Amino acid sequence: MYNARIAGLGFYVPDNVVTNDDLSKVMDTNDEWIQERTGIKERRHVDSEADTTTSMGVKAAKIAIERAGISKDAIDFIVFATLSPDYYFPGPGVLVQRDLGIATVGALDVRNQCSGFVYGLSVADQYVKSGMYKNVLVIGSEVHSRGLDMTTRGRAVSVIFGDGAGAAVVSREEDPTKGILSSHLHSEGQHAEELAVIAPGMGKRWVTDILEDNSPDDESYYPYMNGQFVFKNAVVRFSEVIMEGLKKNKLQPTDINLLIPHQANLRISQFVQKKFRLSNDRVYNNIMSYGNTTAASIPIALTEAWEEGKIKDGDIVVLAAFGSGFTWGSVIIRW
Ligand code: UT7
Repeated sequence: MYNARIAGLGFYVPDNVVTNDDLSKVMDTNDEWIQERTGIKERRHVDSEADTTTSMGVKAAKIAIERAGISKDAIDFIVFATLSPDYYFPGPGVLVQRDLGIATVGALDVRNQCSGFVYGLSVADQYVKSGMYKNVLVIGSEVHSRGLDMTTRGRAVSVIFGDGAGAAVVSREEDPTKGILSSHLHSEGQHAEELAVIAPGMGKRWVTDILEDNSPDDESYYPYMNGQFVFKNAVVRFSEVIMEGLKKNKLQPTDINLLIPHQANLRISQFVQKKFRLSNDRVYNNIMSYGNTTAASIPIALTEAWEEGKIKDGDIVVLAAFGSGFTWGSVIIRW
């Protein structure tokens, strides 16, 4: 058995900044409401064909690979987490293998929405720990903006989400006391439809139904979120799964050097911060600048925190996510 560590990090966001005032020009919303309820000031939206979920993932991955100090040819496996793939199938994992120009390594697509990166990291960790692979590339990338209802009808959801990508190279760590200490994953499918895009699918809204109906006002194309219900579940599950990870490693909340919560809503992060009595410098938030980028939010935040020098050797870094499924999870790292 080996340990696995995060050896390199990278992120990419599109240049196109969309402010709350920009949104108020296309729907009935305003900067005050958005900032008060979510903390978001602006987000990025792709504005050209050049940026797709895959291409942004590739850009983030190239940075992560370079920072890991390895060649792309040393990547043994790819894990790609997204809820907004370029194609219905195949998933973006194979497109990354193609676009990075690496050998015929395995590529796995993870469908766990906001928890996707945490799930992906856990998968990578197990492969590296078992000795099967030395370097696993984990990507979280999303293009939300092309799938949102940008009218007043969709405002409770559309103001929240943004586009972007983050990536990590997970590599073998020889020091048994360092790297990913544990990961903790959960799901509760009972609430699957509380945060979901229903169509097109082979369940309730078939592609053939949609073609026959030809109904552009069909709301099932758009994300649905029971906001308050999701919020209430999120604050409970975030806290539980962070505590679960700390207990497993005989750690206390006071041992956390940096908590990086999935950027769902600044109010959720603040609730968790208060619960664990963490000072501002021990929680990293960037939802103000990027909105909620689901599977990309943790790797973007982790990369920014690392770039800003907020993570030092030996630090206990805690990642935690909650989202559609419901799915949630945490990863405890000694850097
Ligand atoms: O990452 C995945 C996990 N996602 C989350 O964790 C998100 C969890 N939920 C939330 O963050 C919050 O529920 C929201 C930010 C989505 C919504 O905040 P809320 O405080 O729960 O607002 P609400 O949906 O109860 O709506 C309150 C009012 C409504 O008006 P009335 O009925 O009181 O007259 C909405 O129509 O705010 C109205 N509203 C808006 N007003 C201006 C909803 N969206 C907007 C908007 N601008 N964008």
